[in-house]
Amino acid sequence: MERVAIVTGGTRGIGAAISVRLKEAGYKVAAVYAGNDERAKAFTDETGIPAYKWDVSDYEACHTGCVKVAEDLGPVGILINNAGITRDATLLKMSREDWQKVIDTNIGSCFNMSKAVFAGMKEAGFGRIVNIGSINGQAGQYGQVNYAAAKSGIHGFTKALAQEGARSGITVNAIAPGYIDTDMVAAVPDAVLEKIIARIPVGRLGKAEEIARGVHFLITDNAGFITGSTLSINGGQHMY
Ligand code: CAA
Repeated sequence: MERVAIVTGGTRGIGAAISVRLKEAGYKVAAVYAGNDERAKAFTDETGIPAYKWDVSDYEACHTGCVKVAEDLGPVGILINNAGITRDATLLKMSREDWQKVIDTNIGSCFNMSKAVFAGMKEAGFGRIVNIGSINGQAGQYGQVNYAAAKSGIHGFTKALAQEGARSGITVNAIAPGYIDTDMVAAVPDAVLEKIIARIPVGRLGKAEEIARGVHFLITDNAGFITGSTLSINGGQHMY
Protein backbone atom coordinates (compact mmCIF):
# COMPACT_ATOMS: atom_id res chain seq x y z
CA MET A 1 0.00 0.00 0.00
CA GLU A 2 1.26 3.48 -0.81
CA ARG A 3 1.96 5.43 2.35
CA VAL A 4 0.33 8.80 2.88
CA ALA A 5 2.55 11.79 3.67
CA ILE A 6 1.55 15.27 4.75
CA VAL A 7 4.03 18.04 4.01
CA THR A 8 3.27 21.39 5.64
CA GLY A 9 4.33 24.43 3.69
CA GLY A 10 4.39 21.87 0.93
CA THR A 11 3.68 23.98 -2.15
CA ARG A 12 6.68 26.33 -2.09
CA GLY A 13 10.40 26.32 -1.40
CA ILE A 14 11.87 23.41 0.54
CA GLY A 15 8.39 21.99 1.16
CA ALA A 16 7.59 21.82 -2.55
CA ALA A 17 10.84 19.95 -3.21
CA ILE A 18 9.96 17.50 -0.42
CA SER A 19 6.44 16.97 -1.78
CA VAL A 20 7.75 16.25 -5.26
CA ARG A 21 10.53 13.96 -4.05
CA LEU A 22 8.11 11.89 -1.96
CA LYS A 23 5.60 11.66 -4.78
CA GLU A 24 8.34 10.48 -7.15
CA ALA A 25 9.31 7.88 -4.55
CA GLY A 26 5.78 6.48 -4.57
CA TYR A 27 4.14 8.14 -1.58
CA LYS A 28 0.66 9.69 -1.68
CA VAL A 29 1.36 13.29 -0.77
CA ALA A 30 -0.87 16.04 0.63
CA ALA A 31 0.78 19.46 0.49
CA VAL A 32 -0.57 21.89 3.08
CA TYR A 33 -0.35 25.64 2.51
CA ALA A 34 -1.68 28.66 4.35
CA GLY A 35 -2.13 31.61 2.02
CA ASN A 36 -0.80 31.70 -1.51
CA ASP A 37 -3.70 30.20 -3.52
CA GLU A 38 -2.18 31.07 -6.86
CA ARG A 39 1.10 29.33 -6.12
CA ALA A 40 -0.73 26.33 -4.66
CA LYS A 41 -2.90 25.97 -7.74
CA ALA A 42 0.11 26.22 -10.05
CA PHE A 43 1.91 23.63 -7.91
CA THR A 44 -0.99 21.17 -8.13
CA ASP A 45 -1.34 21.75 -11.88
CA GLU A 46 2.38 21.11 -12.39
CA THR A 47 2.81 18.12 -10.08
CA GLY A 48 -0.62 16.52 -9.63
CA ILE A 49 -0.10 16.75 -5.85
CA PRO A 50 -3.26 17.88 -4.05
CA ALA A 51 -2.93 21.04 -1.98
CA TYR A 52 -4.91 21.56 1.23
CA LYS A 53 -5.37 24.99 2.74
CA TRP A 54 -5.22 25.51 6.46
CA ASP A 55 -3.26 27.49 9.00
CA VAL A 56 -0.89 25.14 10.84
CA SER A 57 -0.75 27.51 13.81
CA ASP A 58 -4.48 26.81 14.35
CA TYR A 59 -4.96 23.72 16.51
CA GLU A 60 -8.52 22.91 15.40
CA ALA A 61 -7.72 23.54 11.74
CA CYS A 62 -4.89 20.98 11.93
CA HIS A 63 -7.19 18.37 13.39
CA THR A 64 -9.94 18.96 10.81
CA GLY A 65 -7.43 19.13 7.97
CA CYS A 66 -5.71 15.86 8.89
CA VAL A 67 -9.09 14.09 9.13
CA LYS A 68 -9.90 15.34 5.63
CA VAL A 69 -6.55 14.15 4.22
CA ALA A 70 -7.09 10.73 5.79
CA GLU A 71 -10.59 10.52 4.25
CA ASP A 72 -9.25 11.48 0.82
CA LEU A 73 -5.94 9.58 0.73
CA GLY A 74 -5.89 7.09 3.61
CA PRO A 75 -4.33 6.94 7.09
CA VAL A 76 -1.43 9.34 7.52
CA GLY A 77 1.86 7.50 8.14
CA ILE A 78 4.30 10.32 7.47
CA LEU A 79 4.31 13.91 8.64
CA ILE A 80 6.83 16.50 7.51
CA ASN A 81 6.59 19.62 9.66
CA ASN A 82 8.19 22.06 7.28
CA ALA A 83 5.98 25.18 7.38
CA GLY A 84 7.83 28.20 8.66
CA ILE A 85 8.00 31.96 8.41
CA THR A 86 10.46 34.70 9.28
CA ARG A 87 9.76 38.11 10.82
CA ASP A 88 13.35 39.25 11.29
CA ALA A 89 14.18 42.24 13.47
CA THR A 90 16.53 42.93 16.33
CA LEU A 91 14.99 42.38 19.77
CA LEU A 92 14.42 46.06 20.43
CA LYS A 93 12.59 46.49 17.14
CA MET A 94 10.65 43.21 17.25
CA SER A 95 6.94 43.51 18.05
CA ARG A 96 5.23 41.15 20.43
CA GLU A 97 3.03 40.15 17.46
CA ASP A 98 6.04 39.15 15.33
CA TRP A 99 7.46 37.17 18.22
CA GLN A 100 4.20 35.26 18.73
CA LYS A 101 3.42 34.73 15.06
CA VAL A 102 6.77 33.01 14.45
CA ILE A 103 6.51 30.89 17.61
CA ASP A 104 2.95 29.78 16.75
CA THR A 105 3.70 29.04 13.10
CA ASN A 106 7.13 27.45 13.38
CA ILE A 107 6.90 25.40 16.59
CA GLY A 108 3.23 25.55 17.63
CA SER A 109 2.51 23.87 14.30
CA CYS A 110 4.69 20.89 15.22
CA PHE A 111 2.56 20.28 18.30
CA ASN A 112 -0.73 20.83 16.45
CA MET A 113 0.12 18.58 13.53
CA SER A 114 1.82 15.81 15.50
CA LYS A 115 -1.10 15.73 17.91
CA ALA A 116 -3.48 15.25 14.98
CA VAL A 117 -1.70 12.19 13.55
CA PHE A 118 0.22 10.55 16.40
CA ALA A 119 -2.61 8.36 17.75
CA GLY A 120 -3.20 6.92 14.27
CA MET A 121 0.50 6.18 13.86
CA LYS A 122 0.60 4.40 17.22
CA GLU A 123 -2.38 2.31 16.27
CA ALA A 124 -0.77 1.40 12.93
CA GLY A 125 2.56 0.59 14.60
CA PHE A 126 4.34 2.79 12.08
CA GLY A 127 5.06 6.46 11.72
CA ARG A 128 7.66 8.88 10.46
CA ILE A 129 7.81 12.50 11.59
CA VAL A 130 10.49 14.81 10.23
CA ASN A 131 10.64 18.34 11.62
CA ILE A 132 12.47 20.99 9.65
CA GLY A 133 14.62 22.97 12.06
CA SER A 134 17.38 25.36 11.03
CA ILE A 135 21.04 26.16 11.38
CA ASN A 136 19.77 29.34 13.04
CA GLY A 137 18.09 27.25 15.73
CA GLN A 138 21.43 25.55 16.39
CA ALA A 139 23.72 28.56 16.20
CA GLY A 140 21.44 31.59 16.67
CA GLN A 141 21.28 34.48 14.21
CA TYR A 142 21.40 38.22 14.64
CA GLY A 143 17.89 39.64 14.17
CA GLN A 144 16.08 36.33 14.72
CA VAL A 145 15.32 35.78 18.41
CA ASN A 146 11.83 34.60 17.44
CA TYR A 147 12.91 32.28 14.63
CA ALA A 148 15.97 30.92 16.46
CA ALA A 149 13.89 30.21 19.57
CA ALA A 150 11.22 28.39 17.56
CA LYS A 151 13.70 26.38 15.50
CA SER A 152 15.77 25.51 18.55
CA GLY A 153 12.52 24.38 20.18
CA ILE A 154 11.95 22.04 17.26
CA HIS A 155 15.13 20.18 18.13
CA GLY A 156 13.99 19.60 21.73
CA PHE A 157 10.47 18.71 20.61
CA THR A 158 11.96 16.11 18.26
CA LYS A 159 14.00 14.39 20.96
CA ALA A 160 11.09 14.29 23.40
CA LEU A 161 8.54 12.96 20.92
CA ALA A 162 11.05 10.43 19.58
CA GLN A 163 11.07 8.81 23.00
CA GLU A 164 7.27 8.65 23.06
CA GLY A 165 7.05 7.01 19.64
CA ALA A 166 10.00 4.63 19.76
CA ARG A 167 8.19 1.54 21.02
CA SER A 168 5.41 1.98 18.45
CA GLY A 169 7.50 2.01 15.27
CA ILE A 170 7.36 5.80 15.06
CA THR A 171 10.59 7.69 14.42
CA VAL A 172 10.85 11.42 14.96
CA ASN A 173 13.84 13.25 13.51
CA ALA A 174 14.83 16.75 12.54
CA ILE A 175 16.72 18.23 9.64
CA ALA A 176 18.56 21.49 10.19
CA PRO A 177 18.98 23.18 6.83
CA GLY A 178 21.54 25.89 6.33
CA TYR A 179 20.93 28.71 3.86
CA ILE A 180 18.95 27.23 0.98
CA ASP A 181 18.16 28.95 -2.31
CA THR A 182 14.48 29.78 -1.62
CA ASP A 183 12.27 32.88 -1.48
CA MET A 184 12.83 33.04 2.29
CA VAL A 185 16.58 33.38 1.91
CA ALA A 186 16.21 35.68 -1.12
CA ALA A 187 14.43 38.10 1.23
CA VAL A 188 17.63 38.56 3.28
CA PRO A 189 19.29 41.87 2.30
CA ASP A 190 21.97 41.28 -0.37
CA ALA A 191 24.80 42.71 1.72
CA VAL A 192 23.92 40.42 4.65
CA LEU A 193 23.52 37.37 2.41
CA GLU A 194 26.89 37.93 0.74
CA LYS A 195 28.59 37.77 4.14
CA ILE A 196 26.67 34.61 5.03
CA ILE A 197 27.63 32.85 1.79
CA ALA A 198 31.26 33.77 2.41
CA ARG A 199 31.05 31.72 5.63
CA ILE A 200 29.72 28.55 3.93
CA PRO A 201 32.69 26.21 3.33
CA VAL A 202 31.03 24.60 0.31
CA GLY A 203 30.82 28.13 -1.14
CA ARG A 204 27.19 28.28 -2.23
CA LEU A 205 23.60 28.21 -1.04
CA GLY A 206 22.01 24.80 -0.70
CA LYS A 207 19.30 23.52 -3.02
CA ALA A 208 15.82 22.62 -1.80
CA GLU A 209 16.27 19.15 -3.35
CA GLU A 210 19.27 18.58 -1.10
CA ILE A 211 16.97 18.87 1.92
CA ALA A 212 14.29 16.75 0.25
CA ARG A 213 16.76 13.90 -0.24
CA GLY A 214 17.54 13.93 3.47
CA VAL A 215 13.84 13.81 4.33
CA HIS A 216 13.29 10.91 1.96
CA PHE A 217 16.10 8.94 3.56
CA LEU A 218 14.72 9.48 7.08
CA ILE A 219 11.24 8.20 6.22
CA THR A 220 12.31 4.94 4.60
CA ASP A 221 12.04 1.60 6.38
CA ASN A 222 15.86 1.44 6.32
CA ALA A 223 15.99 4.41 8.70
CA GLY A 224 13.95 2.67 11.40
CA PHE A 225 16.79 2.75 13.93
CA ILE A 226 17.37 6.49 13.50
CA THR A 227 15.22 8.48 15.89
CA GLY A 228 15.61 11.67 17.90
CA SER A 229 18.47 12.77 15.69
CA THR A 230 19.17 15.94 13.76
CA LEU A 231 20.67 15.83 10.31
CA SER A 232 22.49 19.09 9.52
CA ILE A 233 22.53 19.94 5.81
CA ASN A 234 24.32 23.25 5.62
CA GLY A 235 27.42 23.04 3.40
CA GLY A 236 29.63 22.89 6.49
CA GLN A 237 28.56 26.31 7.79
CA HIS A 238 27.92 25.01 11.30
CA MET A 239 29.27 21.63 12.43
CA TYR A 240 27.09 20.64 15.31
N1 CAA B 1 26.49 40.68 14.11
C1 CAA B 1 26.78 41.85 14.71
N2 CAA B 1 26.29 43.02 14.31
C2 CAA B 1 25.48 43.00 13.24
C3 CAA B 1 25.14 41.81 12.56
C4 CAA B 1 25.69 40.63 13.03
N3 CAA B 1 25.44 39.44 12.45
N4 CAA B 1 24.32 42.12 11.54
C5 CAA B 1 24.14 43.45 11.58
N5 CAA B 1 24.85 43.97 12.61
C6 CAA B 1 24.95 45.38 13.00
C7 CAA B 1 25.05 46.25 11.75
O1 CAA B 1 26.41 46.30 11.32
C8 CAA B 1 24.54 47.57 12.26
O2 CAA B 1 25.51 48.18 13.01
P1 CAA B 1 25.87 49.73 12.76
O3 CAA B 1 24.57 50.45 12.96
O4 CAA B 1 26.90 50.01 13.78
O5 CAA B 1 26.36 49.79 11.35
C9 CAA B 1 23.45 47.18 13.23
O6 CAA B 1 23.75 45.81 13.60
C10 CAA B 1 22.07 47.25 12.62
O7 CAA B 1 22.06 46.35 11.50
P2 CAA B 1 21.00 46.47 10.36
O8 CAA B 1 21.20 47.79 9.64
O9 CAA B 1 21.01 45.25 9.52
O10 CAA B 1 19.66 46.58 11.23
P3 CAA B 1 18.23 46.56 10.71
O11 CAA B 1 17.38 46.82 11.89
O12 CAA B 1 18.07 47.39 9.50
O13 CAA B 1 18.05 45.04 10.18
C11 CAA B 1 17.86 42.71 10.34
C12 CAA B 1 18.23 44.01 11.07
C13 CAA B 1 16.44 42.80 9.81
C14 CAA B 1 17.95 41.58 11.31
C15 CAA B 1 18.84 42.52 9.16
O14 CAA B 1 20.17 42.58 9.65
C16 CAA B 1 18.63 41.18 8.49
O15 CAA B 1 17.71 40.99 7.73
N6 CAA B 1 19.51 40.20 8.76
C17 CAA B 1 19.41 38.87 8.19
C18 CAA B 1 18.90 37.93 9.22
C19 CAA B 1 18.96 36.54 8.62
O16 CAA B 1 20.01 35.98 8.34
N7 CAA B 1 17.83 35.92 8.45
C20 CAA B 1 17.78 34.63 7.90
C21 CAA B 1 16.55 34.49 7.08
S1 CAA B 1 16.55 32.98 6.15
C22 CAA B 1 16.25 31.83 7.29
O17 CAA B 1 16.02 32.08 8.42
C23 CAA B 1 16.28 30.43 6.77
C24 CAA B 1 17.12 29.56 7.60
O18 CAA B 1 16.61 28.77 8.36
C25 CAA B 1 18.57 29.61 7.44
